[in-house]
Amino acid sequence: MPQRSSKNNVIITEANPQSPISESYRTLRTNIDFSLVDNDNKVIMVTSTQQAEGKTTTAVNMAVAYAQTEKKVLIVDADMRRPNVHNMFRRPNRVGLSNLLAGQYTVQELVTETHIPHLEMLSAGVIPHNPSELLSSERWVQFIEFAKNKYDVVIIDTPPALSLPDAQLVAGHSCGVVIVIDVGKVKREAVKKMKSNLEHAKGRILGVVLNNMNKKEAGTYAYQY
Ligand SMILES: Nc1ncnc2c1ncn2[C@@H]1O[C@H](COP(=O)(O)OP(=O)(O)O)[C@@H](O)[C@H]1O
Ligand SMILES: [Mg+2]
Repeated sequence: MPQRSSKNNVIITEANPQSPISESYRTLRTNIDFSLVDNDNKVIMVTSTQQAEGKTTTAVNMAVAYAQTEKKVLIVDADMRRPNVHNMFRRPNRVGLSNLLAGQYTVQELVTETHIPHLEMLSAGVIPHNPSELLSSERWVQFIEFAKNKYDVVIIDTPPALSLPDAQLVAGHSCGVVIVIDVGKVKREAVKKMKSNLEHAKGRILGVVLNNMNKKEAGTYAYQY
């Protein structure tokens, strides 16, 4: 992805589908499709080592890129620490995943439509005090099974994977992981550590999105992964 030019909640794949950035999200989609060719149900999570590297931006644009192919898509905000997916769709986050995993609501009560055709959303819900415990629960496993059956593609946004267990917990239940790297600020060693943590949790790395690409380091990073 090119160097960031703005700090707002515009979904580029929706606002400007013909732009080179939107094209690169479609390329990412195509590459994922090739690597998951034997899987009918695609549960794909997005993570990064730190916060503010572009996880939510990537997850949302991937979800829109899939919805544009008329697949039935669900985006899940499993970043129950700094929820942001609902903001991208300009929706409230009064209840969501945390309330589902706490047994307070059913999934049918919590999943909402977005303004994008074919794309539904499960926002993060009330910020819980135990996100990792909730993601270790049987309710999470049941939810993933439900989502796999109901949707063609499920995209899961997660918290940073280096210092928190949440993304590793999600990785074990996903078909694959997309890693986002802000090449301007993250050290290669940190990415390697995260990658091995995710693989240890049986996460399959499907692709790496290099964000903030105009930086000089981008080239050297690209050859390392
Ligand atoms: N490729 C990009 N171009 C422009 N702005 C970006 C890009 N990627 C991320 N941003 C901006 O950077 C900020 C952090 O991105 P976000 O996706 O919320 O990161 P994270 O979910 O990893 O915390 C947001 O304001 C977002 O709009
Ligand atoms: Mg985020």
